[in-house]
Amino acid sequence: SLLNSLSGVAAAIAGFAVNDILLVAVGGIVGASGLFLTQIMCKAMNRSLVNVLLGGFGQTAVVKGGEEEQIVVREVGVEEAAMLFDSASSVIIVPGYGMAVAQAQHIMNELSEQCEKRNIDFRFAIHPVAGRMPGHMNVLLAEANISYDKMVEMDQINDDFANTDLVLVVGANDVVNPAARTNPNSPIYGMPILNADKARTVIVCKRSMGKGYAGIENELFGYPNCLMLFGDAKAFVGNIVKELSGASAAHG
Ligand code: TAP
Repeated sequence: SLLNSLSGVAAAIAGFAVNDILLVAVGGIVGASGLFLTQIMCKAMNRSLVNVLLGGFGQTAVVKGGEEEQIVVREVGVEEAAMLFDSASSVIIVPGYGMAVAQAQHIMNELSEQCEKRNIDFRFAIHPVAGRMPGHMNVLLAEANISYDKMVEMDQINDDFANTDLVLVVGANDVVNPAARTNPNSPIYGMPILNADKARTVIVCKRSMGKGYAGIENELFGYPNCLMLFGDAKAFVGNIVKELSGASAAHG
């Protein structure tokens, strides 16, 4: 966003040099909007601009009391995950960078259709810095024809997690890391996060115990209400959809 803004400033300066008022005006608009966006993104990460430019993530692990904590996780299979969907009355999907990598947005639409058939209250929770660019998740989900009223911004949906039966985290990591609330030594401490950990059950779909952009462990994966579905988001969410559509067909 900052570089975009600077390109606008450069265009405005060029406009002055060649005496083109239109170029000055357009450059000014690009420069100002880029600055606004930069400010919004910094606020969403709870980091200053200097810290974003010079700080960098990824050097610190989850360390409490001097020792790195070992996270013990519980795995879930596709069938069991589908059964959890079948018995849920409210579901929130948390998409992240991994959904973009896996190109799993279209399968999300199919999952949404299966939930609609079962009258499940089904929404997407959008963190402002999920993915790698502003609005990344909104663009991908809109591309997959998911309606805008199903995409709910963090501030609007965060209080609802506590009353939600099932949260499916699809390739997100840092944006649901409770260390942002609980661990003052964490580099993401203070960053607003989605309260996925407060739901009754959380399924996290990712390929491994690999870290996210911030390069830190995620203590959510070891929480008693959290189940790990290890695999590629497109393939594994696709398998859940297959299970659910098979069950629908069987019920007639
Ligand atoms: P991340 O924390 O980066 O985590 C993404 C996760 O996706 C990884 O842990 C990875 O785990 C998983 N993944 C990768 N490929 C996958 C696949 N094919 N299937 C399933 N999972 C896959 O993502 P996030 O939660 O969206 O957070 C975004 C981060 O980027 C934040 O730290 C934010 O500050 C930073 N950031 C954001 C922006 C903007 S503007 N959005 C710009 C720069 C930086 P596995 O390897 O185990 O699969």
